Amino acid sequence: MSGHFSFDGAAVPFEDGETLIAAATRAGRHVPHLCWHPALGPSGACRLCTVRVDGRLAAACTTRAAAGQVVECRTPDLDERRRLLVQLLFVEGNHFCPGCEKSGDCRLQDAGYALGVTGPGFEEFYPRRPIDASHPDVWLDLNRCILCKLCLRASHEVDHKGVFAISGHGVATHVVVDSPSGRLGDSRLAADDLAAHICPVGAILPKRRGYAVPIGARPADTQPDGPSTGGDDD
Ligand code: SF4
Ligand code: FES
Repeated sequence: MSGHFSFDGAAVPFEDGETLIAAATRAGRHVPHLCWHPALGPSGACRLCTVRVDGRLAAACTTRAAAGQVVECRTPDLDERRRLLVQLLFVEGNHFCPGCEKSGDCRLQDAGYALGVTGPGFEEFYPRRPIDASHPDVWLDLNRCILCKLCLRASHEVDHKGVFAISGHGVATHVVVDSPSGRLGDSRLAADDLAAHICPVGAILPKRRGYAVPIGARPADTQPDGPSTGGDDD
């Protein structure tokens, strides 16, 4: 069934089976998100896309559109929830933006700017996480990982390799690499895999490509809070 739903007061069309975020994005409406990608199945990991559907909170990336729904997205209270989520992600990892190659093209940094985050808001956790530089073409720095699972889904659904997985519980939850040694260099990851390019932050970065696009000319510098979908494949 197709039809229209109301999105922040505007009529948005949808196709049969489409999620709220897919339909809204197709209509040029931006739903803040970190873990959604149009080429992958949803995971509902980040909750940044939480909207109100007929008065109830729901993730726009996992909720199917239906005719007549009233969807509220950019309300002050929902944006305040998003601000808290972004602040928690910033303090949970080590995000030293000025020294990160992803700066200016980072979904977390972009969300922070767009939502008006001006400081950490919470005490920084400052975890010590390993950096894996064993792959000839790709860095893995889990200090910046926000556990969005995009790399897992890309490697599984598109690359058909299953290079990445999640291990641990609670604050110890982390990404692991499926290889005999657990190191990226011994895995089946190839430089042109989607999983090598989809990370929305600077946790998975290509080697030998530092500052190819100068700071000031990167996507978030020119179009903050834009329709970008995560990773450097946008
Ligand atoms: Fe997401 Fe990047 Fe962490 Fe993978 S490494 S879960 S893509 S933040
Ligand atoms: Fe919907 Fe992350 S939970 S985009």
